[in-house]
Amino acid sequence: MFETIKQEIAIIRDRDPAIKSDMEVFLYPSFKAILKYRKAHKLYEKKHYFRARLISQRTARKTGIEIHPGATIGKGLFIDHGHGVVIGETAIIGDNVTLYQGVTLGGTGKQKGKRHPTLEDNVMVGCGAKVLGDITIGANSMIGAGSVVLNDVPPNSTVVGVPGRVVKRDNVKIPSADLDQVHLPDPVMNDIQQLKETVARLVKQMEE
Ligand SMILES: CC(C)(COP(=O)(O)OP(=O)(O)OC[C@H]1O[C@@H](n2cnc3c(N)ncnc32)[C@H](O)[C@@H]1OP(=O)(O)O)[C@@H](O)C(=O)NCCC(=O)NCCS
Repeated sequence: MFETIKQEIAIIRDRDPAIKSDMEVFLYPSFKAILKYRKAHKLYEKKHYFRARLISQRTARKTGIEIHPGATIGKGLFIDHGHGVVIGETAIIGDNVTLYQGVTLGGTGKQKGKRHPTLEDNVMVGCGAKVLGDITIGANSMIGAGSVVLNDVPPNSTVVGVPGRVVKRDNVKIPSADLDQVHLPDPVMNDIQQLKETVARLVKQMEE
């Protein structure tokens, strides 16, 4: 237990510049939610599903962080602020992942079995982002605040927007395939041009 608390202090001190003293770690909902998740997950693995859910639901009411006891979570997870965070039953989270408030690692409602995302090591999911379905977010990737991600993301990527789009990979910007707003096709002019050409051809034929 002492070791776990020391680890949590190190994680929060590393990732939240707002913390001023080690004692503050006990005030973080993330601290409570992750300790309780570890306990609930052990019960879930032993098939004590009701007791596992009881712990998870009570913790959700107290912290605003709902982690299903079936989720698989690695070392060093940090959930900053915590309000409205949901982690689904078949979600898999690697090591050193950071989630902000309002993040959902959920299902699309269209899949059965493994239906929640897999987040590889060192992923950051910004506030309010929704990562949905059995997709994989590659290691070291960042999901921008407010994004809705429905497809796999390669490692070392930045994804933003709705639906989420990779805008950076290996720290290099990816140009967007923007619509050319200036040189738009004009179907009426094209038809008139074709008619002009046809009339000119007919006039030439008549003259001949
Ligand atoms: C995505 C993010 C991690 C920045 O990643 P980055 O790799 O440094 O990306 P950049 O800042 O270079 O931005 C790349 C492009 O995405 C755009 N962008 C960045 N974040 C965005 C977002 N959340 N939504 C939409 N577009 C966004 C930028 O404007 C930029 O567009 P441009 O290329 O047209 O100029 C950051 O903007 C973010 O959203 N962090 C979330 C932090 C958070 O949740 N904090 C809560 C604290 S309480």
